[in-house]
Amino acid sequence: MIMMNKRTWMHLLVGTALAVVLALLVNKTSDVNHAEYGEIGSLLRQLKQIDAEWNVDVLRSKTGLNASYDPVASPLPVIESLDELLRSKTNLFWRGHGDSGERIVPLLDNYRQLMGSKVELIDRFKSQHSILRNSTRYLPSAAAEVLAAWQAGERDGLVSAVDRVLVDTLVYTDTPEAGLVARVDESLAQLRKLAKSLPAETAERVAGFSAHAETVVRQQQLGDKLLKQLAVLPTARALDELADMHALEHEKLLVSQQTWRWVLVAYSAALLVALGWFAWRLVASYRMLARVNQELTRSHAELKESQVHLVQSEKMSALGQMVAGIAHEINTPLAYVKGTFEVLREQVAPVAQLAANSVQFAQMLHLPNEQRDRAQLQTLAHQFDKSTREVSGSRVMDEMGQLLADGIHGIEQISEIVMNLKNFSRLDRAKVSEFAVHEGLESTLLLARNLLKNTVEIRRELAFDLPKIQCSPSQINQVFLNIITNAVHAMPAERAEPGVITLRTAREGDDMVRIEIQDNGSGIPANVLPKIFDPFYTTKPIGKGTGMGLSISFKIIQEHGGKILVDTEPGVGTVFSILLPLRPREPGKPDNAGEPALLAA
Ligand SMILES: Nc1ncnc2c1ncn2[C@@H]1O[C@H](COP(=O)(O)OP(=O)(O)OP(=O)(O)O)[C@@H](O)[C@H]1O
Ligand SMILES: [Mg+2]
Repeated sequence: MIMMNKRTWMHLLVGTALAVVLALLVNKTSDVNHAEYGEIGSLLRQLKQIDAEWNVDVLRSKTGLNASYDPVASPLPVIESLDELLRSKTNLFWRGHGDSGERIVPLLDNYRQLMGSKVELIDRFKSQHSILRNSTRYLPSAAAEVLAAWQAGERDGLVSAVDRVLVDTLVYTDTPEAGLVARVDESLAQLRKLAKSLPAETAERVAGFSAHAETVVRQQQLGDKLLKQLAVLPTARALDELADMHALEHEKLLVSQQTWRWVLVAYSAALLVALGWFAWRLVASYRMLARVNQELTRSHAELKESQVHLVQSEKMSALGQMVAGIAHEINTPLAYVKGTFEVLREQVAPVAQLAANSVQFAQMLHLPNEQRDRAQLQTLAHQFDKSTREVSGSRVMDEMGQLLADGIHGIEQISEIVMNLKNFSRLDRAKVSEFAVHEGLESTLLLARNLLKNTVEIRRELAFDLPKIQCSPSQINQVFLNIITNAVHAMPAERAEPGVITLRTAREGDDMVRIEIQDNGSGIPANVLPKIFDPFYTTKPIGKGTGMGLSISFKIIQEHGGKILVDTEPGVGTVFSILLPLRPREPGKPDNAGEPALLAA
């Protein structure tokens, strides 16, 4: 899981808050759906038109201009569906605009309530109307029944009375004017009066007929009343109010949207400025990063260079330690050679005498006989004989040969030391060549001869078929010298046990060699062990160790793609094992990933 610190959380929080505000502002300014608004307007207009037509129909019915009342009930289904549509569209349009919705919905409810009343009135009107229609239709049959029961001769007065009632009632139902009701009432009164003088059965029929005619008139009046109520229901006003409120709120919406737009513009501008500032800071920190990176690269290069110098100076310091010993090393064969030459000088006098005598003797022998002085010849012969005996008797020649051989040996020793010195201090840090490990060990031992003196015994357990390796010989020699020097330092001279350094070599797998340098010194304590490869870490007194030996050795082996391992036991001794590839690996890709292996037995 990625761990985020407080600062990152804060940034995230602020970023989210800014984005949320932006989203809110965008939402506030999101476009008003004008088509939807237009549809609402058109619905309102349609409703108003239908309502107006309806009112006209009601009026026409009321005034009797309409032959029937059907047109009054006909627009009802259309109005209901339009009303439903209006309500759903209104809800959709004003959703999210709380205040406007709250102001519009009551008006809508008011309209609906009025519409409800209207519908109820119309329902009542319809049922009343159907009763009226049935009664009206039955009225002529009722009249016929009265007349059918009537005796001939009595017929004329009654017929005309019944006809008058029938006609007046039908005229009234056809054109329901208030004045006609009085006529119907009058005709009915006449009929009833006439009925009193009629036989009972006929009178009963007349009464039925009259009641029927009255029912027609009553229903007609009730219908009128309902129509009046319908006419005064203020549905049109409610629609107007609704339309006005829609328009008002729409206007407000547009104004507030415009205001929010300005806020959005200001906010976006502020955000842009902030973003610009962040971008500028980003660029600045990127530049700084690049600069720091450059500086780091430079100091890394410098560090590498100084490390090379350090290696060299460590080499020189190790060399410095060796100088005294080397001087001694050279001094011994030098004194030897000098002594030899002094002895040779002493030996040269009799030989030179012999040579001089033999020259004189030879010259005398070359003279003609008459010129020879016998006494002188004898003296010369005597001297020559004496010199010859002296030279051969003292085995001068044998000694001279021996002395010369010794002198040459001494000089060879000196030149070998000088050669080793030259090899050792060579600056060929990266020069790779074929290297015989055993020869390297031997030349290191030679250099360390003074250090080893005769107190440390060197044991060799060397593999006879060890292949040569490709490496920088002087560097590897330096590693050997560092480890051997440490081993000697770990064996104080005053202790009873003799010091032993064992050099062991072997092949390691197909492509490596192993070189072990084992001592029976003090061993490395557990608390020291993890630090021995650290630069400048030393347990030695000031002036005796720089603490760089092992760190440099580690670096050298690492650069050769090898490993350096330590196995130690305090009080028993230490083994340093060096593993080196036969061919150098790619630089910077050490096999051991850079860590020395520390093994404490
Ligand atoms: N063979 C060993 N036996 C015991 N201790 C050792 C041995 N080799 C190294 N050490 C310990 O490791 C330390 C670090 O060794 P290193 O060679 O790096 O520095 P140094 O020998 O102290 O100084 P320099 O080698 O630079 O003169 C030594 O001071 C010593 O304490
Ligand atoms: Mg050392």
